[in-house]
Amino acid sequence: MNFPLSIFTLLFVVTTVFAQLGLEAASYFRKHLSSTSEVYLPSESNYTLETTQRWNAFSAPTYVISVKPTTDLDIQNIIEYAYHNNISFLGTGGGHGYSATLDTVRNGIEIDLGHFNTVSIDPNANTMTVGGSAHFANITGPLYDAGKEFQVGSCSCVGIVGATLGGGVGPYGGLHGLQIDALQSVRLVTGTGALINVSATSHPDLWWGIRGAGFNFGIVTSATYQVYDFTNNGQAMSADLRFRASQNASLYEFARSFTGKLPDAFSIDIAIAYEEVFGGTYFFANFIYVGPMEDGIALIQPLLDLGPFDRNITMIPWKDIETSSKFGVDALACIKGNFHSVWGLNLYQIDVPTLINAVNYMDTVYAQYPGFRQAFLAIDMYASRVTESVPDDATAYPYRNAIARFLLDVGFTNSSLATAASQVGRDVRSIFIPTSGAKTDNIEVYVNYGHGDEGQLGWYTERKLPRLNALKNKYDPSKLFSHYNALEATYNVPKY
Ligand SMILES: Cc1cc2nc3c(=O)[nH]c(=O)nc-3n(C[C@H](O)[C@H](O)[C@H](O)COP(=O)(O)OP(=O)(O)OC[C@H]3O[C@@H](n4cnc5c(N)ncnc54)[C@H](O)[C@@H]3O)c2cc1C
Ligand SMILES: *[C@@H]1O[C@H](CO)[C@@H](O)[C@H](O)[C@H]1NC(C)=O
Ligand SMILES: *[C@@H]1O[C@H](CO)[C@@H](O)[C@H](O)[C@H]1NC(C)=O
Ligand SMILES: *[C@@H]1O[C@H](CO)[C@@H](O)[C@H](O)[C@H]1NC(C)=O
Ligand SMILES: *[C@@H]1O[C@H](CO)[C@@H](O)[C@H](O)[C@H]1NC(C)=O
Ligand SMILES: *[C@@H]1O[C@H](CO)[C@@H](O)[C@H](O)[C@H]1NC(C)=O
Ligand SMILES: *[C@@H]1O[C@H](CO)[C@@H](O)[C@H](O)[C@H]1NC(C)=O
Ligand SMILES: *[C@@H]1O[C@H](CO)[C@@H](O)[C@H](O)[C@H]1NC(C)=O
Repeated sequence: MNFPLSIFTLLFVVTTVFAQLGLEAASYFRKHLSSTSEVYLPSESNYTLETTQRWNAFSAPTYVISVKPTTDLDIQNIIEYAYHNNISFLGTGGGHGYSATLDTVRNGIEIDLGHFNTVSIDPNANTMTVGGSAHFANITGPLYDAGKEFQVGSCSCVGIVGATLGGGVGPYGGLHGLQIDALQSVRLVTGTGALINVSATSHPDLWWGIRGAGFNFGIVTSATYQVYDFTNNGQAMSADLRFRASQNASLYEFARSFTGKLPDAFSIDIAIAYEEVFGGTYFFANFIYVGPMEDGIALIQPLLDLGPFDRNITMIPWKDIETSSKFGVDALACIKGNFHSVWGLNLYQIDVPTLINAVNYMDTVYAQYPGFRQAFLAIDMYASRVTESVPDDATAYPYRNAIARFLLDVGFTNSSLATAASQVGRDVRSIFIPTSGAKTDNIEVYVNYGHGDEGQLGWYTERKLPRLNALKNKYDPSKLFSHYNALEATYNVPKY
């Protein structure tokens, strides 16, 4: 053990009175953490307001205490305390992780990284350093003002580091690759309590592992990334289009036609959803083209010819892609505290008959369960040329060759629908699996899109596991970081 406070002999807490656990932890932390850190007990009225809330209230962790550290040493001390007292803990960045495995944190300690939210940009060096909890919303404006761009994701409230540690996909990934490909170094508190810099030259073994399996080894307190000069003067075409459900085959045929030839600057996002005012089941689709409007229009002309019933095609600064494209759905995607059963899968080909089956299935779900009418089923397709220009064995991330992903979010408000929500998710995934193009029998999924029941072979692959398991034993031998789609963990998912 390498803990800074290991000279203290801590008593094992044997009580099963969890409130007592929280009180004891609070009194310890108030004494031993830096004076600017904060502790909150769930029973306190300020708890909900002052601690980071989760996007998904379903399968959520439960805590006896939430701690908001302000220094790296605080984080070392919290991990040491949790370890010695055998209390599970979870670091919280943006709070958008939704895996069903998160509910394995019961009566745990939340390490709320909310104070690790700094952003600094060095335009001359083309670098950006962010704290472990900074959101995409916190970097887009400052980067834009500095004349720089970055491969953000699709939701402005997601934690940058939380997304990166699994890989980090988004519309500018066609131009710049995955977020892990922009990463230059991180500062990390490991599962042994050590504070280390991790980069190509410092702990290079772990450097490989954190890029794709990062949440398994520790808590990142800050991360430094490469950023890029503007493409197309920082402007992109964003085309929001709405279509009737009956047009589904043509829409997916359009996506399929780009297989193997999606321009780097072009990204496709097609979602099926339900809205009474649009006649029930319908499509909303977004196309980003980082180039002149007329070239972007030419790319989507086949879709315009189909006659979308609604359109909004504009040039926007890249910084607004998350917040103002997709008819402004970002504001909804940032709402916390609802129930979600989320499912995903990698696609290595676009099989139109499969997609038609999925649409027809969702159409019946919307009809049968009014409680699932906020559910949506999205396909995202980002060019993989730059992503694939990095060799597979350069990072732990195993799925550079996926050409698209589906993501199904079954949102619901009445918990009595939990079993049915899981059934919908499993059914949709079963529709996709036979034609996904995966070469193994594992449920291959981008770890950050995982439902939680895919297992380590599905998140990390057989190819990567030997090296990852060796890293786990070295940097987190006590398996403290085992609550989010983790290596070597056994989960009882699905429970519904
Ligand atoms: C609405 C929505 C849109 C999304 N869009 C995209 C997208 O476009 N592209 C994409 O790639 N992904 C996307 N995701 C998935 C997203 O990348 C993951 O959910 C990610 O894990 C969220 O990170 P977070 O910090 O917000 O969440 P949290 O729940 O806070 O964290 C998720 C996991 O990461 C760990 N973690 C977070 N911060 C740190 C840190 N600093 N150090 C160590 N571990 C940490 C947590 O402990 C937890 O295990 C989306 C998710 C949602 C809900
Ligand atoms: C939160 O509220 C409680 C009273 O409910 C108060 O004692 C405590 O100091 C507050 N915590 C912080 C960090 O402000
Ligand atoms: C630690 O906690 C786990 C889960 O609560 C329990 O199963 C285990 O026995 C505990 N170990 C010790 C040494 O108390
Ligand atoms: C970071 O972005 C979030 C929105 O996702 C916002 O609520 C918060 O105030 C921002 N933090 C800072 C320090 O700007
Ligand atoms: C990590 O690197 C920074 C700057 O590069 C340095 O100041 C710091 O001391 C290093 N920390 C550790 C734990 O090695
Ligand atoms: C999807 O397209 C197929 C093929 O054109 C069609 O048969 C089906 O009815 C459509 N689905 C819906 C929900 O409109
Ligand atoms: C059209 O899109 C732009 C940019 O995304 C947005 O600012 C505007 O509000 C949208 N207009 C409508 C009518 O939705
Ligand atoms: C939730 O669903 C149950 C079972 O269908 C129903 O009895 C209950 O009234 C619903 N609750 C709410 C708040 O709608």
